[in-house]
Amino acid sequence: MTYTEHYSVLKKECIDFLTENQTSEQSEFFYADLTFGGGGHTFALFEQNEKNKLVCFDQDPDALSNGRERIKNSNAEDRIELVDSNFRHFPTYIRENRQDILDKGGLDGVLMDLGVSSHHFDKGERGFSFREDAPLDMRMDVDNDDIKTAADIVNQYSLTDLVRIFRDYGEEKFSQRIAEKIVETRLQSPIRTTKELENLIFHCYPKKMRHGRINPATKCFQALRIEVNAELDVLTELLDQVLPLLKVGGRVAVISFHSLEDRIAKVKFKAMAKGETPCEIITKKPVLPSDQEILENSRSRSAKLRVLERVESKKSKNKYAHLTNDN
Ligand SMILES: C[S@@+](CC[C@H](N)C(=O)[O-])C[C@H]1O[C@@H](n2cnc3c(N)ncnc32)[C@H](O)[C@@H]1O
Repeated sequence: MTYTEHYSVLKKECIDFLTENQTSEQSEFFYADLTFGGGGHTFALFEQNEKNKLVCFDQDPDALSNGRERIKNSNAEDRIELVDSNFRHFPTYIRENRQDILDKGGLDGVLMDLGVSSHHFDKGERGFSFREDAPLDMRMDVDNDDIKTAADIVNQYSLTDLVRIFRDYGEEKFSQRIAEKIVETRLQSPIRTTKELENLIFHCYPKKMRHGRINPATKCFQALRIEVNAELDVLTELLDQVLPLLKVGGRVAVISFHSLEDRIAKVKFKAMAKGETPCEIITKKPVLPSDQEILENSRSRSAKLRVLERVESKKSKNKYAHLTNDN
C-alpha cells in the first residue's frame, strides 16, 4: 500500500507563526519538524523560503520510506534531513550530530503535529482502527520489538491498570466494566484482534448507547494507542528540553488532537514562561481550524495549536497579550 495522502492540519497558521520572526539579514533558518508524517508541514516550510533548512523526525517506517522518496524526488536532500527516531531523542540528536545549528544560535522553530497520521488508520494491518480485522498492534515504531503492542497490554495488564488507561487516556465512562470483561475473557483465550476487542467493548455498553454517533470502541482504542506509544510521556519529555535548543526569537508550535495532549502543552508552556530561560506564550488561547478547514478535513475539528517563543529577556512585552484571556 502506498502512503495515504495526509491533510496537514492548521498548515498556514503553523507556517505563519514559525516564520514570523525571519529577518532578511539571516542567511539560513533552521527548523525541526518532529512529526514528519506525509511531510505536509515540512514541505510547506521548505517552499516558504529557500533559506529554510529542516531536521525532521518520524518513527514510522512507512512515513520514513515515503518521506525519503519525496525528499529525493524534490531534490531537497541538502535542505531536509529525515531521521528515523522517536522525537524523545531529538535534543540528544541535535547536541551530538547538529552542533552546527546550536553554534549558529539555535533553531528558528520546532513543530509537533501530534499523534498518528491518516495512513495509520487506513492501513488496517497496523491495528489502529477497528474498521478492519487485524492483530492488535498500534506501534508507530512497528519494527521495535521492545515496545509492548496493544495485544500485550490487553492480555497482560492488571485489572487496575486497564481501568486506569481506559479512564485516564480514553475518558471512557465504562472503563471498569470493559476492563473486567477483558480480564474474564482472556482467562479463556487471549484477545488478539481489533474486531474481537471492538465486539467485547460493544457488548459492555448499555444497549441503547451502542449505536451512537461514535463507535463504543473509539475511546478505548485511543487509550491503548496512547499507552503503546507513550504519547503523553514523550511530549512532556520533549517540552522539558526544547527551550535551550531555540534561538532567541525561535518558536515551538504544538498541534494536539485531544484534551490530554493539549493540557500538557498548556501547562508546560505556562511553567516554561515562569522558568529561567526567558520565553513568552504567543497563543494565549489555542488557535483552532477555520470552518472551511473542518469542512475539508473533519479530523481537524479537534485540533488545537499552541505556540511559545524564546525571548531575549522576560521584560519584553508580549505583543499578543491584549488578544485573549487564557482558557
Ligand atoms: C499527525 S502525523 C504528522 C503529519 C504531518 N505533519 C503532515 O503534514 O503530513 C504524526 C506523525 O508523527 C509521527 N510520530 C508521532 N509521535 C512520534 C514520536 N514520538 N516520535 C517520532 N515520530 C512520531 C507519526 O508516526 C506520524 O507519522
